[in-house]
Amino acid sequence: MLSEFQETLLQSVKAYQSTQLVKNKYENVLQHLDSGIMLFDCDGVLTFINVQMAKLLEMPRQSLIGCNLLQLLRHPHLNQFKKRKILRIYRETIFHRKKYHELIDEYGRHWLITVTYGDQMDGDFLLSVKDVSDFKRIEQTAYQNDKLAMLGKISAAIAHEIRNPLTAIRGFIQLLRPHLMQLGKDEYARIILTEIDRANDIIHEFLNSSKPSAPQKSTVNVSSLLKEVVLLTESEALMKGCQMILHEPSEELLVSIDVKQIKQVLLNIIKNAMDAIAEVGGDHQGVIDIRAEKEGKSVCISIQDNGGGMDKGLLSRLFDPFFTTKEKGTGLGLSVSYRIIRNHRGNISVDSLKGAGTIFTISLPLVS
Ligand SMILES: Nc1ncnc2c1ncn2[C@@H]1O[C@H](COP(=O)(O)OP(=O)(O)O)[C@@H](O)[C@H]1O
Ligand SMILES: [Mg+2]
Repeated sequence: MLSEFQETLLQSVKAYQSTQLVKNKYENVLQHLDSGIMLFDCDGVLTFINVQMAKLLEMPRQSLIGCNLLQLLRHPHLNQFKKRKILRIYRETIFHRKKYHELIDEYGRHWLITVTYGDQMDGDFLLSVKDVSDFKRIEQTAYQNDKLAMLGKISAAIAHEIRNPLTAIRGFIQLLRPHLMQLGKDEYARIILTEIDRANDIIHEFLNSSKPSAPQKSTVNVSSLLKEVVLLTESEALMKGCQMILHEPSEELLVSIDVKQIKQVLLNIIKNAMDAIAEVGGDHQGVIDIRAEKEGKSVCISIQDNGGGMDKGLLSRLFDPFFTTKEKGTGLGLSVSYRIIRNHRGNISVDSLKGAGTIFTISLPLVS
């Protein structure tokens, strides 16, 4: 028979054990949450950090518990990049009292930082970090599509406005032609007419590719398409001191595409590669590497250059209509290319390293 005291003691032990079990369970949940979590007490000492947060910081979890911010910043395992980001978060949340902060890490992932403090936290300071890269990608695509729809409307309006005066000029030059002939200046009339026709062709081409119309598809072999594109650009590349290397696919790859449109995309990208190589200048030997490979039910066409490359800021604006860094650029090449590839139910992606070069990858569905 247990005494009353022993009974009370046993109940207390049981209650303590069950509280511990619940505590462990919740701690386990927090530890394995997909968001990173850090909890600082009112003295600024780190009292809790979960697995994901330690992974993000690339630091051993146990060595961080008990550190204050200063000790954390001086931690031998913390790299410079993260140190700068932590200081930035500190400034934004403590000085500017912002509850949310977004940042891009060294691997190009987007993170949403949320801080919670005040009465509800008993003086503690909770910092959580969530990977929002997927949401950002969707947001950017939606934004991109909006801009492209706008571009379609603007270009149609511009083309309409430019075509009319061109037609008038063409008509009057034809009327003037006999008089110019009498003056021995027929050559001038001929040049004006060819140049007007060329301007009309450019507008026509541009409208064709920027219009969201369905592509006029035919089945072609990727290898012959690439050979043709290389043939078209090789002489210009040679003049600019670039070597073009085509790695032909080992098997026959068939795609159903609007040949004119896809050629335009490839030419745009190759032209950009030549520009990027020319920008490096000096006696830099430019190389443009083109290859096609089968990847599941698609073909991946990659165009790699060893030009100047781009930084992250530039990369994020690359496909924006009218975005250009060139004095004589239009900033339309890539936005039009993006639309064409999307119209073909394909994808276009880019990877670049400042000072090293750039690789564009286009994937298109294979004919099954
Ligand atoms: N291969 C590349 N290497 C470096 N920068 C590039 C490359 N391709 C494109 N870019 C950058 O993207 C911008 C937009 O390209 P694009 O849409 O073709 O317009 P444009 O060539 O008229 O400037 C360029 O101005 C350039 O800064
Ligand atoms: Mg271009």
